[in-house]
Amino acid sequence: MRDPKELETISERTLDHYRGSAESFRENTRDHDVSQNIAALLRHIRAPSPLQILDLGCGPGRDLKTFTALGHVAVGVDGAEPFVEMARAESGCEVWHQNLLQLDLPDGRFDGVFANAVLFHVPSAALAQVLGCLHRTLKPQGVLFCSNPRGDNQEGWSGERYGAWYDWPAWRERMLAAGFEEIEHYYRPSGLPRAQQPWLASVWRA
Ligand SMILES: C[S@@+](CC[C@H](N)C(=O)[O-])C[C@H]1O[C@@H](n2cnc3c(N)ncnc32)[C@H](O)[C@@H]1O
Repeated sequence: MRDPKELETISERTLDHYRGSAESFRENTRDHDVSQNIAALLRHIRAPSPLQILDLGCGPGRDLKTFTALGHVAVGVDGAEPFVEMARAESGCEVWHQNLLQLDLPDGRFDGVFANAVLFHVPSAALAQVLGCLHRTLKPQGVLFCSNPRGDNQEGWSGERYGAWYDWPAWRERMLAAGFEEIEHYYRPSGLPRAQQPWLASVWRA
């Protein structure tokens, strides 16, 4: 357990990092190819299109734009104000300004949640609560995609950003405990030896 003040300090300092580097983050990540991850989410959703997709920690809006171009209705959430503005302007989507640690999401609203490179910022003490919010905002049988940098289950500061780096067994245990059903997982970038695949991507059914 951590005290709520400490969790707030952790998330605010991490968000301050993104607030201060929003422009360069946008430029450096604009061309990141996450089509493998988007496909992994969409192929497991059983509902008819257009799908209702929540992009959690949407950053400057690159993936909101992709979901929209594919004909879906995407909504973003981010805690860094510059990203909320950029994502709205970039995608034309609705973007909610919310902190991951105090999510206020509608129940049963989304067919899919896309959490690309974001859940690792949640301190382990708060993860169950955040996963519970994501489970509730999905429709029955809805799908959660997440991709996180992996590690040996350590957590702490990496420069000005807080992170928790799980291996597959530990991440799987957290997800199952939150009520998700396992669909698939893989490491990225694909086609490289495991030591050169820092990202762990996984897909879950509510
Ligand atoms: C590594 S970036 C990933 C952005 C985007 N999903 C992508 O794939 O490019 C992490 C994102 O999580 C957001 N974030 C980090 N901590 C947060 C918090 N406590 N509440 C809300 N958003 C947070 C940041 O503002 C940033 O947009």
